[in-house]
Amino acid sequence: MQTEAVYQCCIHPQCRNSSDLSDTTFRCKRCGSLMDVCYDWNRLPIPKKLSEFEAKWSRRYDPLDYSGVWRFRELFPFARPEQILTVGEGQTILQQANGIAEYVGLNPGCLFLQYEGMNPSGSFKDNGMTAAFTHARMVGARRAACASTGNTSASLAMYCAASQTMKAIIFIGSGKISYGKLAQALDHGALTVQIAGDFDDALTRVQQVSAQLGIYLVNSINPFRLEGQKTIMYRILEGLRWEVPDWIVVPGGNLGNVSSFGKAFVELFELGLIPRLPKLAVINAAGAHTFYQLHDRQQVRWQSGQLDQAKIENYFKQMDSNQDRANTLASAIEINRPVNLPKALRALERCGGVVREATDQEMLDAKARVAMGGFGCEPASGASVAGAKRLCQEGIIAKSDRVVCILTGHALKDPNITIAYHATDPKMFEEVLGKRGVRRAMFANRAIQVSNDLDEIIKAIEVFTS
Ligand code: F0G
Repeated sequence: MQTEAVYQCCIHPQCRNSSDLSDTTFRCKRCGSLMDVCYDWNRLPIPKKLSEFEAKWSRRYDPLDYSGVWRFRELFPFARPEQILTVGEGQTILQQANGIAEYVGLNPGCLFLQYEGMNPSGSFKDNGMTAAFTHARMVGARRAACASTGNTSASLAMYCAASQTMKAIIFIGSGKISYGKLAQALDHGALTVQIAGDFDDALTRVQQVSAQLGIYLVNSINPFRLEGQKTIMYRILEGLRWEVPDWIVVPGGNLGNVSSFGKAFVELFELGLIPRLPKLAVINAAGAHTFYQLHDRQQVRWQSGQLDQAKIENYFKQMDSNQDRANTLASAIEINRPVNLPKALRALERCGGVVREATDQEMLDAKARVAMGGFGCEPASGASVAGAKRLCQEGIIAKSDRVVCILTGHALKDPNITIAYHATDPKMFEEVLGKRGVRRAMFANRAIQVSNDLDEIIKAIEVFTS
């Protein structure tokens, strides 16, 4: 395959195995680690300053310069322009959010929210999916598959429909996906396989099935997904006029995002395009907190590839013997066996950072507070704001730090939870949230019931808005 990019095994630097991009197992044949896509930067045209990317805005009639992903293509140059499949993804924005800064405990002007729910399929996944689909085209794939908690499958289904040449196959756990996301996959025509199990089971199965049937896999074990997701960081830098923030805070599920963000910043730093690295904070759901347990409680570190594998295996063994399944209302991050664990550990070690957990209560309150400040987000995205709040309380994030929270998914992805949070009928709250341990709705906005009488309606509006 003709490109300046190669796969390289960089998790164990002593391995350094490398191969060309025709392989679709994405794993090192020598040590089994997930490969990275690496570039021979010396032979590639790199901008001298990041601000040079701004020139692309004047060429927005070109679909590649219009895409918020591909207009940074010099920073992940694995494909030729004619191979790229884009639907205009990445038109997302960074907003300063002062009301929410106060909630989090930051000084005015210090909190920024990155709205990745504005992508065409409503989540950050499109950033990575356009890159994965481009590689799928390069290797001539006809079928693409994923296991998903809903957003990956919605994005995959959309890109398959857009490609007009590829068929989507999605694996979901039973009862583990919100209706908004399931609706998208069905509407786009994906073959939807619901298995009796959860995301972790579905991911094991989809890997076996893809290997057996030669189906192209687009879960975040696919390193091209991570290449595309790097552009979320480029857009944040652009939104900050190319200044590096102090913290990036992101929800953690399968840990693709944090792995990708770490790679993005380390590359920019090594290319001399940024003067320093930001710190990364990953926020697990308290009911799916493997990364928190391993990194912050058991101090597991990447250590330049000298991972304490025994400690990790022991953790999973213990989890299995306790029949400990991931369990959170933030279904997007209901994941106990993150496939990108080594890459995520590497990202935290290179950039510096911490992992925390947020309860369902904290995530739902944060989500409601976000929506009251402007655009909304889905429950899992609330983790980043809830986590930033916790880190401010702990004094790890200083009041004057510049913090960017990633809002990974759109507010309409999971309306059932939102409706239950604001429910007028306490039984509905209890049924959906109370039974799962949520005690109160700090920002509930309850609909009022009024008889069909003009005077009564006017009276009610005066009472509630004056
Ligand atoms: N936020 C949302 C809205 C997600 O959908 C996901 C992952 C994450 C955060 C976690 O990101 O895996 O990079 O740590 N959703 C996957 C899916 C697993 O199948 O849609 P991560």
